[in-house]
Amino acid sequence: MKFKSLEHIITIRRTTRSFSGENLSDEQVDQILRSAVYAPFGGATGLPLKEVRKIFVFKTNSEAMKIVNDVLVATIRSKARLMGIVLAILPFLKKKLGTFYNRLKAIERYGIPSMKMGSHFIIIAEKKGIPSVQRQSIAHALQNMWLSATSVGAGFQLISAIGIISNNARVLKLLNLPYNKYQLDGCVIGVPAVEPEETEDVVLEEYVTRIG
Ligand SMILES: Cc1cc2nc3c(=O)[nH]c(=O)nc-3n(C[C@H](O)[C@H](O)[C@H](O)COP(=O)(O)O)c2cc1C
Repeated sequence: MKFKSLEHIITIRRTTRSFSGENLSDEQVDQILRSAVYAPFGGATGLPLKEVRKIFVFKTNSEAMKIVNDVLVATIRSKARLMGIVLAILPFLKKKLGTFYNRLKAIERYGIPSMKMGSHFIIIAEKKGIPSVQRQSIAHALQNMWLSATSVGAGFQLISAIGIISNNARVLKLLNLPYNKYQLDGCVIGVPAVEPEETEDVVLEEYVTRIG
């Protein structure tokens, strides 16, 4: 494999939403998973990393994956219905919530295709603690996996809706996790169906304010 510098990996990282259906190699998957373990975690909770962070990996065509997918789509369907009622009663919220609502409706109708066409689906569970930094901690683990996936030529998509099933009984049973102790998030990795588009060059001064 051609060596890529970290700077290059950061600039070519993109979201993949269309996967070929082929499988990644075990080496690729393990390298991506290992990077999640190396990511920083909330040390001030005083808990050891093995207790704080748990990583679950599913083959996308497995029975276990079907359970997660079914629970997720059903939960999104009920949220979409609820939001539909809210928007019908309070139409002025459409400007703020319309895009998100349409996205929920699309998932309700078509599901999340990458959860079937990706190679593997990964759930990260991060133990809740004080200070409450589990969400930030998960983001570090996901970002490490994203950059690692990019470096091995794999596609990566965040599936942030997984957060809403963090306390679903069927999912917790499958993962063997206690109720309300862990925050969940997830992603799909796989072989991209098409080459990702290049990101435009960044003009730093459009983002940065130098103070002092
Ligand atoms: C916190 C967070 C949650 C996201 N959730 C999703 C998601 O559930 N599904 C998805 O396809 N993309 C998700 N994204 C990806 C963004 O849409 C994407 O990063 C952004 O549009 C920029 O595109 P790029 O990743 O190709 O550079 C998420 C990004 C962030 C930072």
